Amino acid sequence: MTSLKLSLFLIVSCSYTTYAREVFSENLYSFITMASASYTNKVQRIVDQLDVDVNDKHDVITAIWRPVEIAAFPDNWTYYIEESVNGTVHRMTILILSEDDYGIIHGQQYDVKRPIDYKPKQYEHADLSNIALESSSPKSGCEVLFTRIEKDVFIGTYLDCESKTHLNAPPPYSFTLTCNTMDAFVCSRSSFELYSRLSYIFFKKERYALPAQWIEGVNYTDPCSLN
Ligand SMILES: *[C@@H]1O[C@H](CO)[C@@H](O)[C@H](O)[C@H]1NC(C)=O
Ligand SMILES: *[C@@H]1O[C@H](CO)[C@@H](O)[C@H](O)[C@H]1NC(C)=O
Ligand SMILES: *[C@@H]1O[C@H](CO)[C@@H](O)[C@H](O)[C@H]1NC(C)=O
Repeated sequence: MTSLKLSLFLIVSCSYTTYAREVFSENLYSFITMASASYTNKVQRIVDQLDVDVNDKHDVITAIWRPVEIAAFPDNWTYYIEESVNGTVHRMTILILSEDDYGIIHGQQYDVKRPIDYKPKQYEHADLSNIALESSSPKSGCEVLFTRIEKDVFIGTYLDCESKTHLNAPPPYSFTLTCNTMDAFVCSRSSFELYSRLSYIFFKKERYALPAQWIEGVNYTDPCSLN
């Protein structure tokens, strides 16, 4: 009897772990593959200084969008996101992605506990499976949305839940993800980053591979490799 119960338990728990993760659609795969990179807008700073006709000023920002497996969310498509402004870490979050029936990609933000003396990009290649979060539930009212407008272009909004002054209505950033860049417009002058008339243009520096478990048996093509 006991062994029957045990085998039933094993069958139930095995099938649970096998089917719990949402299907990795071609759409989700494309978004995750295209976004997975480290980014910098360094070049833009140089143009800002030279082009007095525009007279735009951008902060120098580096960012990491790294797909990671997190023990706390074994059934989810998870990103580690880090942003540094002028060399100081400003944002460290875990973003959990899912897709709705209409192909719109939803992201829930979770704050990461910052280790004391954390240096920019320390987590670029670190094992983050047991990363500590501030809370086990996502920050409410901070959902991120992306949608595809071309085979290899996604647009979206990312809510600035880091902005302490607007917790009731966090201001959005407007994003465009292409094969070579991630462009972000700072929509609000109350956001931490300098407001500029022209978007921030972040070039991808290093690409990150997707966790092996995610692409097991998956046979999609990176939309950017076809160009
Ligand atoms: C994580 O994945 C599970 C299983 O697919 C799903 O029920 C849950 O809603 C996901 N969590 C988020 C925040 O998307
Ligand atoms: C970053 O540095 C620039 C130039 O020194 C300065 O104008 C800007 O206010 C700084 N931004 C932040 C968020 O500290
Ligand atoms: C993957 O797709 C390519 C191109 O459509 C095809 O040639 C190949 O046989 C597929 N591989 C598997 C394992 O399904």
